[in-house]
Amino acid sequence: GQVLGIEGTAWNLSAAVFDEDLVSLSSSAYSPPKGGIHPREAAQHHAAVLKDVITSALADADEIAGVAFSQGPGLGPCLRTVGTAARSLALSLGVPLIGVNHCVAHIEIGRFATGFADPIVLYASGANTQVLGYLNGRYRIFGETLDIGIGNALDKFARHHALPHPGGPVVEELARKGSYIPLPYTVKGMDLAFSGLVSAAKDSAAPLPDVCYSLQETAFAMCVEVTERALAHTGKDEAILVGGVGVNSRLQEMLSVMCGERGASFSVPERKYMGDNGAMIAYTGRIMLESGQTISIPQSRVNPAYRSDQVEVTWRREAGS
Ligand code: ATP
Ligand code: FE2
Repeated sequence: GQVLGIEGTAWNLSAAVFDEDLVSLSSSAYSPPKGGIHPREAAQHHAAVLKDVITSALADADEIAGVAFSQGPGLGPCLRTVGTAARSLALSLGVPLIGVNHCVAHIEIGRFATGFADPIVLYASGANTQVLGYLNGRYRIFGETLDIGIGNALDKFARHHALPHPGGPVVEELARKGSYIPLPYTVKGMDLAFSGLVSAAKDSAAPLPDVCYSLQETAFAMCVEVTERALAHTGKDEAILVGGVGVNSRLQEMLSVMCGERGASFSVPERKYMGDNGAMIAYTGRIMLESGQTISIPQSRVNPAYRSDQVEVTWRREAGS
C-alpha cells in the first residue's frame, strides 16, 4: 500500500507518498529573514503551509495505508507541529502511525536511490555529520562530529561574511576560484570537530575565495578520512553520501577518488533525496510498516535527541542482510 510521509525537523516542511516508487513529493522551505533558523518561527512556517503541502502530496495518491512522520532528531517546536498533524491524520484516516528516525530515513532513501545493499554512509547535513554502517540489527555510528554539523559550520562561516543562508552553496561557488591555505584539521580517532576550523576560517585575512576553498578542502578531507577508515575496519566495499551537504560536487569528487583508490563503489542519490525531504520519510515509513513497526498514540511523542542507533532495524534483519 501507499504511505504518506511528513518531514519537518528543521527548515523544510515536506510531504510525499511512496508506493513501490515515489508517487508525489511536495515541499515548502522556510528561509529565515536574517541569521540562522529560529525554531519557533520555523514551526510557525510549517503550521502555516501544512495543509497545502499535504493536500498537494495526496492529490495523486490512492488509498493511504499508513502515515509516517519524522519523530526526531530535530528542533522541538518543528517536531511537535509535524507530530500533531501526523497523529490527527492517522486517526482520521483510520490507518497506522509510523514514527521515523530522520537520520535512518536519510540512510534508507540513500540505499533505495543508489541500489547499494550494505554501504558505509557518510551523512553530512546541517546539524549532523556521521559515518554509519549496518551491524547486528542497527545503524552503528562509527564516527561523528564532537561539536557542530558540517553544514552548520559552512552556514556560520557564511553568516560571518554576511553571505546569504544557507551558506553551503555560496561557499561552494566562491571556492571554485580559490586556492589552498592551511587551516586546522581535527580528526580524533573516528570523530571529527569543526568549530576550531570555522573560527580559524572566520579569522583568516586571506582572500575570501581562498578561505572558502580551504574550508571545504579541510572539512571534506576530514570526512573522507573517517569514511575510509570505516570501510577499512568493516570490510564493506560500498559507500554512499547522504544529507544536504552531500549535493556538494567537491565532496562527491573527493569521496569518489578515495573509493576508487581502494576498489570500493561509491554512489550518491538523486538531488531531490539529499536534503531534508518527505520522500525519505514516506519510503522508510513504508518499509517499517511492512515489517510491523507501527506506534500507538502514546508512543508517538517526538524526540529532539533521537539517535540512529536507538532504532531496531527489523526490516533489514527479516531480509537477511
Ligand atoms: P539534519 O537534521 O539531517 O542535520 P538539516 O536540517 O541540516 O538536516 P539538510 O537539508 O540535510 O538539513 O542540510 C542542510 C545543510 O546543507 C545546510 O547547512 C546547507 O548549508 C548545506 N548545503 C546545501 N547545499 C550545499 C552545498 N552545495 N555544499 C555544501 N553544503 C550545502
Ligand atoms: Fe536532514
